[in-house]
Amino acid sequence: MTVIMKHSQKYFVAQQAELGQINGHIEETYAGHNVVKVYNGEKAAKEVFHGINGRLYTNAWKSQFMSGLMMPVMMFIGNFGYVAVCVVGALLVNQHTITIGTIVAFMVYIRLFTQPLSQLAQAATNLQSAAAASERVFEFLGEEELADESDKTEKLDNAKGNIEFKHVRFGYKEDRMIIKDFSMKAEAGQKIAIVGPTGAGKTTLVNLLMRFYELNGGEIYIDGTPISQLTRENIHELFCMVLQDTWLFEGTIRENIVFSKQHVTDEQVEAACRAVGLHSFLKTLPQGYDTMLDDKANLSAGQKQLITIARAMIEDAPMLILDEATSSVDTRTELLIQQAMDQLTVGKTSFVIAHRLSTIKNADLILVMKDGNIIETGKHEELLAKGGFYADLYNSQFEHAS
Ligand SMILES: Nc1ncnc2c1ncn2[C@@H]1O[C@H](COP(=O)(O)OP(=O)(O)O)[C@@H](O)[C@H]1O
Ligand SMILES: [Mg+2]
Repeated sequence: MTVIMKHSQKYFVAQQAELGQINGHIEETYAGHNVVKVYNGEKAAKEVFHGINGRLYTNAWKSQFMSGLMMPVMMFIGNFGYVAVCVVGALLVNQHTITIGTIVAFMVYIRLFTQPLSQLAQAATNLQSAAAASERVFEFLGEEELADESDKTEKLDNAKGNIEFKHVRFGYKEDRMIIKDFSMKAEAGQKIAIVGPTGAGKTTLVNLLMRFYELNGGEIYIDGTPISQLTRENIHELFCMVLQDTWLFEGTIRENIVFSKQHVTDEQVEAACRAVGLHSFLKTLPQGYDTMLDDKANLSAGQKQLITIARAMIEDAPMLILDEATSSVDTRTELLIQQAMDQLTVGKTSFVIAHRLSTIKNADLILVMKDGNIIETGKHEELLAKGGFYADLYNSQFEHAS
């Protein structure tokens, strides 16, 4: 049994790994179905599938074959013992060394002994695939945990929204710092706009503020409290965040807007949808706000963004982050949303990342980022007057129109 198990275990492990691979590949191809079609990638996708499937097949039959050997081998050994007892016993009885009763007893013993053994052998197959599967589960569980936060006693229940970055240093990898030395101060109620080319580190900054990553140096303060002293949960309560990539789940539009918030009235949902300009569109749907969103109910990318913005409006946290949240919306709607947002965020600190600079003209502070550094700060007019990077960026957006 041990010999067989030793040899077959590696096939069980490989089978489990290939199973994970094949599911991952199917899910990926299915999610990117349009792209696969458009780039005529079916053949390549199929080849990858057949590759993994072939390996899965080989490993599966080898492991099944090996563990299938177990029972016949066990039966053979059992029966072999039976025969040996009979033959040797017969010889010994002939020599009058033992009595016939002893042989009969031994014949019963042999059966009693081999039966549980072959049952064990039978169970071994299941045990082996369970072991191979749990190996993968424990690999996952063995990943490093986030730092324990149960001893943190500080709690901010209702932040005013003063935020300060002090000499923040951060890199996703130790050897490549993205944010080198970032300092900034935002007063409660201000609208802070972050602009800059793609890859400048705008989203990174927001990730740090939400404490999705730990800093490599410096500190961020919310109302004077370092965020490292607050629990992550507490920080997330203080912000609502709208990202560029929308996340909607299967459920009605209303459920998607309300999400995890309790005690939301229909009027509030409607008001939020009016503010983002979705209301009249939703009214035209046969089921209105109760339309199910699933694979079939198709909204445009912009409409999906509007729903996530309405969700953020309902959430009503003391601070707001919009990370390219209106990038798929037409310019006019974007402006309307920004105006609605500005009304909504009176007294709240908001961080807005937007590429169409016309929407952030009225920001209290504009941070222009490039390669992880702030290269310019100030209000719209000041930055324009300076004639630097921001002025270039701003003017480039109007050149085409004129
Ligand atoms: N999860 C990550 N791991 C490693 N590097 C990342 C990660 N996310 C972003 N980066 C890198 O950090 C830099 C800044 O990215 P990001 O803050 O997302 O830019 P943007 O200003 O366009 O939002 C980019 O060069 C990007 O390659
Ligand atoms: Mg970004």
